[in-house]
Amino acid sequence: ATTLGGAAAQTGRYFGAAIAAGKLGDSTYVNILNREFSMVTAENEMKWDATEPNRGQFNYTNGDRVLNQALNNGKRVRGHALLWHQQQPGWAQGLSGSTLRSAAINHVTQVATHYRGKVYAWDVVNEAFADGSSGGRRDSNLQRTGNDWIEAAFRAARAADPGAKLCYNDYNTDGINAKSTGVYNMVRDFKSRGVPIDCVGLQSHLTNSPPGDYQANIQRFADLGVDVQITELDIAGSNQANGFAAVTKACLAVARCTGITVWGIRDSDSWRTGENPLLFDGSGNKKAAYTSVLNALNAG
Ligand code: G3I
Repeated sequence: ATTLGGAAAQTGRYFGAAIAAGKLGDSTYVNILNREFSMVTAENEMKWDATEPNRGQFNYTNGDRVLNQALNNGKRVRGHALLWHQQQPGWAQGLSGSTLRSAAINHVTQVATHYRGKVYAWDVVNEAFADGSSGGRRDSNLQRTGNDWIEAAFRAARAADPGAKLCYNDYNTDGINAKSTGVYNMVRDFKSRGVPIDCVGLQSHLTNSPPGDYQANIQRFADLGVDVQITELDIAGSNQANGFAAVTKACLAVARCTGITVWGIRDSDSWRTGENPLLFDGSGNKKAAYTSVLNALNAG
């Protein structure tokens, strides 16, 4: 196949990109999007600050623009992200305890209900584990409402949209380490207690190459009975093309690794300013990393 989405489809997978509603008037951008990608994530437009700027007042204007751009062009959507310690609206940052808990769960219910039947998967909870060696939860206003906030969010999301796959998404969980093992233990616990969870997202914001145990880490999550998705891939550094190939091959080697999403289209669209970590240059030309991903997908 001659496109990323087409090549990924040969093994039943998707290849996606994060996009911004504000760029949908850029024809170079939209042409690449429509040609290459089969899944779309809103880079910011479905987050809490964007969708509920005032408590109980929901704004889906830009989220819907991203959703409709995808659906009208035959693509699916990964919803991102229902609860996160960052990009909370100011009103939520000022809440705590049971007031924050009920506002957070109401947010999950309302947003998942708005998009019910329209999204393939939701990042229900994003980045809730701590960096470093503890393997424990990150401190946040949400965590301080009680350790069960994550499972409460997953149960609310399942009730609101029973057809969406429900994912836990994080960074620095790409290899086998204390943080990813903390996530692994949570997923194992959720599966054993019947808490709804369907997938784990490995963001994979990388430099040069994935960790040597990347595939083994994907496999151990899959062995728990969840899908794994590479959700925010970008790779800085001079070994970028090889790194993208290694990530692609690792996903293809695990049956339950169902797709890869890159976090932006052109280098100039990336949040990693100056690192040029994506598959297209600022003019929209295919980079060596693009060819390396396409070849790996076609070989799979
Ligand atoms: O929209 C406002 C604009 O009105 C304002 O004038 C401008 C001034 O700063 O800010 C604009 O908002 C920015 C927004 O991106 C949209 O461009 C925010 O400042 C900026 O903080 C925000 O950054 C986003 C970041 O998440 C926030 O934490 C990045 O675009 C987005 O790529 C990044 O994505 C995250 C994932 O959601 C989770 N994983 C990590 C990943 C990278 O940080």
